[in-house]
Amino acid sequence: MTGNILQIRDLTLSVAERDGSMATAVDHISFDVREGEILGIVGESGCGKSLTVMALMGLLRDDVKATDGQILFQGEDLLKISPKRRREISGKDMSIIYQEPMTSLNPLMKIEKQVAEPLKLHGKVTKEEMHQKALDLLTEVGIQDPEACLKAYPHQLSGGMRQRVMIAMASICSPRILLADEPTTALDVTTQAHVLDLLKRINREYGATIVFISHDLGVINRICDRVIVMYAGKIVETGTCRDILDAPCHEYTRGLIRSIPTRDRKGEELPCIPGRVPSVEDPREPCPFAPRCQRALEICHKEAPPSVRIDEDHTACCHLC
Ligand SMILES: Nc1ncnc2c1ncn2[C@@H]1O[C@H](COP(=O)(O)OP(=O)(O)OP(=O)(O)O)[C@@H](O)[C@H]1O
Ligand SMILES: [Mg+2]
Repeated sequence: MTGNILQIRDLTLSVAERDGSMATAVDHISFDVREGEILGIVGESGCGKSLTVMALMGLLRDDVKATDGQILFQGEDLLKISPKRRREISGKDMSIIYQEPMTSLNPLMKIEKQVAEPLKLHGKVTKEEMHQKALDLLTEVGIQDPEACLKAYPHQLSGGMRQRVMIAMASICSPRILLADEPTTALDVTTQAHVLDLLKRINREYGATIVFISHDLGVINRICDRVIVMYAGKIVETGTCRDILDAPCHEYTRGLIRSIPTRDRKGEELPCIPGRVPSVEDPREPCPFAPRCQRALEICHKEAPPSVRIDEDHTACCHLC
């Protein structure tokens, strides 16, 4: 590890409401992404995971604005760069894999054209070189008959194959940072395991830094070095996977851990965290988790929790830590 490849400072993302006002969806989050690591971001649906990676990738929709903060990549604030500079970075330095590849693959275009597209955008290559590189990459990501796959349209492939194709597309220019937004959620468990292994290999063999998003701490634990736990647009706990799983401090993290299915709990009903994540327009308490927290004290409803440093890499935002 050689320092931070990305530094996110006070990133705040606001979404436009129907009445024209702005509501805060991601609230002053700060974290570093270390060169060469696999960093997990975990949280229930609606916690702000996707908005955060879309902001890193410069793909926020028009009705979402970064209203505060910085995303620093090699000294440049990615929130301030020109569209031209963004196009240079996207695909080459940083690329993204989505949960459902069908929505990001063009259904009318053969796989070969789509996989090789980033090469065409980012360097001078001949048709033969592009074909060879696409072929090599599909082989690399475990496609059995890469020649046939290159000639196919997305709908002719299985979900697992499409996800492998997406990974090949995202990796073709050897990006330094790969953002993976729930890349295995739509897959069966066996295919999920293969895709996780593949991402691990891209990290270990090619040194790509990966930001891996999931709502499942069990999956995060299989692939990540460190993890950020998000709740209602805020970071509530960060640490190594071991810190988070063996010694969680935040009651929300504990709830997520309790809901991981394990073999010895087979047949039992999984405990879930009562209540739900507030939507962006709901009023928030100083600690947004306080209304769902079984250990909440009076202070939790009155004062924002401090960020407590528990260990070298381990911090939690909670009055009880
Ligand atoms: N374009 C938008 N307009 C209005 N609200 C939005 C928009 N995009 C996201 N939101 C809201 O922002 C919050 C965070 O959304 P986000 O998609 O980042 O959640 P997530 O953690 O990725 O959830 P999931 O696990 O369901 O993918 C949610 O409450 C969501 O409804
Ligand atoms: Mg999401």
